[in-house]
Amino acid sequence: MAESMKGMHRTCRAAEVTEAMIGSEVTLMGWVQKSRNKGGIVFTDLRDRSGIMQLIFEDGTIDSEGFEKAGKLRAEFVIAVTGTVQKRAGAINEKLATGTMEVAVKYLRVLAEAETPPFPIEENSKTKDEIRLTHRYLDLRRPDLQRNMMLRSEVAYLTREYFHKEGFCEIETPMLGKSTPEGARDYLVPSRVHPGSFYALPQSPQLFKQLLMCSGYDRYIQIAKCFRDEDLRADRQPEFTQIDMELSFVDVDDVIDVNERYLKYIFKEALGVDVQTPIPRMPWIEAMNRYGSDKPDIRFGMELIDVSDIAKDFDFVVFQNALKQKDGSVRGINVKGQGDMGRKQIDKLVEMAKGYGAGGLAYIQMKNDGSVKSSFAKFMTDEQQAALIAAMGGEKGDLLLFAADRNKIVWNVLGALRLHFRDELGLARKDDFRFLWIVEFPLLEWSDEENRFMAMHHPFTMPMEEDWDKIDSDPGAVRAKAYDITLNGNEIGGGSVRIHQNDIQEKMFEVLGFTKERAWEQFRFLLSAFKYGVPPHAGLAYGLDRLVMLMTGADTIRDVIAFPKVKDASDLMTEAPSRVDAKQLEELALQVPEEEA
Ligand code: AMO
Ligand code: AMP
Repeated sequence: MAESMKGMHRTCRAAEVTEAMIGSEVTLMGWVQKSRNKGGIVFTDLRDRSGIMQLIFEDGTIDSEGFEKAGKLRAEFVIAVTGTVQKRAGAINEKLATGTMEVAVKYLRVLAEAETPPFPIEENSKTKDEIRLTHRYLDLRRPDLQRNMMLRSEVAYLTREYFHKEGFCEIETPMLGKSTPEGARDYLVPSRVHPGSFYALPQSPQLFKQLLMCSGYDRYIQIAKCFRDEDLRADRQPEFTQIDMELSFVDVDDVIDVNERYLKYIFKEALGVDVQTPIPRMPWIEAMNRYGSDKPDIRFGMELIDVSDIAKDFDFVVFQNALKQKDGSVRGINVKGQGDMGRKQIDKLVEMAKGYGAGGLAYIQMKNDGSVKSSFAKFMTDEQQAALIAAMGGEKGDLLLFAADRNKIVWNVLGALRLHFRDELGLARKDDFRFLWIVEFPLLEWSDEENRFMAMHHPFTMPMEEDWDKIDSDPGAVRAKAYDITLNGNEIGGGSVRIHQNDIQEKMFEVLGFTKERAWEQFRFLLSAFKYGVPPHAGLAYGLDRLVMLMTGADTIRDVIAFPKVKDASDLMTEAPSRVDAKQLEELALQVPEEEA
C-alpha cells in the first residue's frame, strides 16, 4: 500500500550525508536497492541519484508497526525515512562514499511498492540491450547511466556559461525547414496545409546560422537537435545534439582560439582534467599519411610507413599493379611484438583488410626464434627484403603488414588495422585525452558514383587563398579553410570559414556542377541575403553526444542519450516509428501500403 509523504521533507540526498552529520537527524527518500531481514534487525540500502546510504531498522528504535513494514521492503520500493546518522556498527564498506555511516531509522513510509523489475538495477549491467532499452526508464536508474546523464547536464551548463561570457548569443533555429541537397538523407514531415509538400528536419542549423551572421548577431551559439537519416553506428544516432556556433569578422585562428579555451574550461570544470593548449594542428594529408585517418588516434604510435619506393622494384604483381595507378602506393605498419602470431589469426587480419576494400594483406613475420616468414617471399630478393624490413624499423618479434592499392584504400585498411590492434593489445587509455586539430582539408572530393567533384565539407566552405589559382587546372589539389577537432580517434567537431564573396561562391557552384539556376533554387534565401551585406564569418559544431561519450568513457553515444534509438532507428520503448490512423494519413494526403497481415 502506498503512503503519502505529507509532513515529511527530504533534508538531502542519500550520499550527500557526511561524517560531520553524525548524530543529527536526516530525512531521505529514494529507492530500495536491496533489503536483508536478519531477525531483530533489517538492513536496507537506499538509493537515489547521489548514491547509496545504508539504513538500519531495529525493533525498539522504530515502533513495531514500522519494523514490520521494514521487514517487507523489496527492491525498487520507494520509501521515505527519518533517522539519526551514526557510525557504522558493522563492517565498513570501502566501495561506498557513505560506507562508514548508516542511518538508524525511527520513521518509515512506503511511498510506492514495486514489482520485481525485469533486470537488476546495478552498475555495468550484463542484461541484453534490447531488454534494457525496452525499459529505458529502469535502465536510466542505473548508477553509471545516471552519472553519464548528470555529466551531460553539467557540460551543457558549462557550455552555455562559457559562451555567454565570451559574448555569444543563444538563438534557436527552426526544426521544420526546407529540404536541401548535399549531406545525409533528410527526415521529412508532411504538411497538412500544403498537401504533397514536406518540411525537412534540420541536419544542422548551418544555413540559418550563416543568415544570423548576415543579420548582425556576430557570435551565435545553440545547443541544437539535428536529424540525419543515416545508417547508425556506435557514434551515430538519427537524432543527435550539436553545440553549434558561428562568428563574424574572424579567421581560422580566432575560431580555434575560442574553442581551445572552451575545451580547456569544460574538461577542467567537469572532470578536473588539464587540457594542454595550444592543441596541436595537423594538415589532413599528414594525418592520412601517418595514421590512415582524418581523425587519428595519437595516443599510440604504429604509424603508417610509405614503402612505395622500395616496393616498386619487387617482382610482385600486387605491388606493381598498385603503383601503376594514379594515387597508388604500398604502405605498411609495424605491429610490435606480434611476430609469432598464428596462421589463423593472420588469416583473420587478411579477411579484415578485405572487408575494408583491399585485395589482400601482405605480411612479413619476424619470429622470436630469428626466422622470417613472408607471404610474398618468392617475389623479393634477400636484399630487397632486408631493405623493406629496415624501412619499417622491423626487429625480431615484429609483425609487418602491407597494403598495396590506391591511397584511399591503403589508408582505410591500415588505419582500421591500427585501431584494431589498439583495442586488441590495449595500447591506449581512456583517460588519456589527446586532442588534435585536423586542418587544410581538401576542398573537394571526387565521387566515382556521381562522376563529379563534391564538397568535402559543404558548398559554402572557403578555399585557401594560396590554392585558389588551381581551381580550374587541378580542383582536387585546392585546400579548404576547414578544420575538425578530434579526440582519441573521434571527430568531435568540425567547421570552416565560409565563402562570403559572390565570385568565389559562383565558381564553387560551377565546379560542383550546379547551374546558376539550380544553385538559386536550392539556396535562394542564403544567396539573396548575401546580396545585402554579408560579413566574413566562420563557425564550428561539436557533436555533444560524442564529446560526452568520451568524457564519461562510454563506448557508445547511446550511453549518454536518455532515450536513444537502436540500429534500425526505432525506439524500443515507445515503439516509434509506428503506423498511424487512416484519418491522419487522409489529412496529409498520403497513401501508404497496407500493413502486412
Ligand atoms: P558536421 O556534419 O561535421 O558539421 O557535424 C558536426 C559534428 O556533429 C557530430 N555528428 C554526429 N553525432 C552523432 N550522430 C550523428 N549522426 C552525427 N553526425 C554528426 C560530429 C560532427 O563533428 N554545420 C556543420 C558545422 C559547421 O560547419 O559549422 C556540421 O553540421 O561530432
Ligand atoms: P597472391 O600472390 O595473390 O597469393 O598474394 C600474395 C600475398 O599478397 C598474399 O598475402 C595476399 O594476401 C597479398 N595481397 C594481395 N592483394 C594485396 C594488396 N592489394 N595489398 C597487399 N597485399 C595483397
